[in-house]
Amino acid sequence: MAGGGYVPDSGTKQFQGRVTGFVLIACIVAACGGLIFGYDIGISGGVTSMDSFLSKFFPSVYKKEKEGHHESMYCKFDSHLLTLFTSSLYLAALFASAVAAYVTKVFGRKISMLFGGIVFLAGAILNGVAVDVAMLIVGRLLLGVGVGFANQSVPLYLSEMAPSQLRGALNIGFQMAITIGILVAGLINFTFASKDWGWRASLGLAAVPAIMITVGSIFLPDTPNSILARGNTEKAREMLKKIRGTDNVDEEFQDLIDATHAAMRVDGQWSTILKPEYRPHLAICFLVPFFQQFTGINVIMFYAPVLFKTLGFGDDASLMSAVITGLVNVFATFISILAVDRLGRRALFLEGGIQMIVSQVLVAVMIAKAFGSAGVGVMSKADSLLVLILICFYVAAFAWSWGPLGWLVPSEICPLEIRSAGQAINVAVNMAFTFIIGQFFLTMLCHMKFGLFLFFACWVVVMTLFIYFFLPETKNVPIEEMNNVWRKHWFWGQYIPDDAVVGTASSTKIKDMEA
Ligand code: BGC
Repeated sequence: MAGGGYVPDSGTKQFQGRVTGFVLIACIVAACGGLIFGYDIGISGGVTSMDSFLSKFFPSVYKKEKEGHHESMYCKFDSHLLTLFTSSLYLAALFASAVAAYVTKVFGRKISMLFGGIVFLAGAILNGVAVDVAMLIVGRLLLGVGVGFANQSVPLYLSEMAPSQLRGALNIGFQMAITIGILVAGLINFTFASKDWGWRASLGLAAVPAIMITVGSIFLPDTPNSILARGNTEKAREMLKKIRGTDNVDEEFQDLIDATHAAMRVDGQWSTILKPEYRPHLAICFLVPFFQQFTGINVIMFYAPVLFKTLGFGDDASLMSAVITGLVNVFATFISILAVDRLGRRALFLEGGIQMIVSQVLVAVMIAKAFGSAGVGVMSKADSLLVLILICFYVAAFAWSWGPLGWLVPSEICPLEIRSAGQAINVAVNMAFTFIIGQFFLTMLCHMKFGLFLFFACWVVVMTLFIYFFLPETKNVPIEEMNNVWRKHWFWGQYIPDDAVVGTASSTKIKDMEA
């Protein structure tokens, strides 16, 4: 049924060339793209739990928090202004990614990264020196524009620069950098939290990854694909020779030319992706990022310190707990790198989903036991430790399933003519729902109480069933042959016309394997 793996034919093209210095530098710049995104995700929760920050910018939240236990635990951080501080960034990134898609296409990937880096740097400086909420929010919007540009251009840059045999590893390398950014942010929050100016250091230090991506992109060459698409054939060929470290690039260059022509023949990739034969791709590019956010992961990533404080942890213990979940996140992402091409995407999605459901239900039960629906009570030390362990269990499950696969799967299932439209949908949907969760989580916690964890658990049940029935296995399938997979799927097969499948000769070279 929904499963089924593929063995690619042994004649899959391998081009000449080696891993050159250029490709390695591209990895480092990609890491910076992931770092700025991860740093933002990780920094805001810690900052919004710092007393010096709250008393300066959000005095009413600060007062409510200090008033003690007579009000519901679930509601003491509920402030739209406070959540707007966190989530405004993702709204800006959502709109910026649409502009970034255009800039990336017309002016190249490099200019897009450079612009993203500079705007992000301006945002970091503005936040570090902020004297009022307006400066904070404008700073966050600038950071968001930077993230929008980086998330659109860096993954594209990477997949165009990387030799094909490195593409999968590099893709999850981006997620790895995100998790490292989150962890570093957690450590920085922990280090500076007790200082009066701690929040300035936390927010201002975002300038470090910003300088890295800005300076890095000045020295980077543009990709051959991008140079070619802008009409400079000879320059593109020279660049390909340079990055592959060989003169023998004719075959790969021909592929680039074919791909560029094919993409040019399609009039309007937006109208194309809406055609029935692209229904599976459209559905996956929309639903995967949507589901990724409805795992509830950013409740933990943004608000772990606030959440742990709500559970009765002290200030330091709350920030330390965020560092612990950050470490688990990095470590489990590494496991995903090792497993993704062996166990396959489906196995990781299904196992991760089940593990998340179990953890979320147990967390809900523990919180209900301690605080009931009135939100009054205390959690014992032993129980709060158990909640921390369950949350680590949940984060690990996300980090080897929906975290990296949420970016990998949409990027590998689309044929070239709709690949960048698919990627733009993926980024935009991801940012839109990150914004929604970021903006409404504290209010949802206030109203749904411990039921919030059950709410997300229900969503994980839905998405796990979706994966089981609707996502075919794509491990080891060459990108150009992906339509074979869709064609054979029990449901999506009806949408794929015969002529959209790579020649019958090729399909016969691919044989089914037991799931
Ligand atoms: C998600 C982020 C999330 C992060 C956690 C990413 O894949 O897109 O929203 O915060 O993983 O590691």
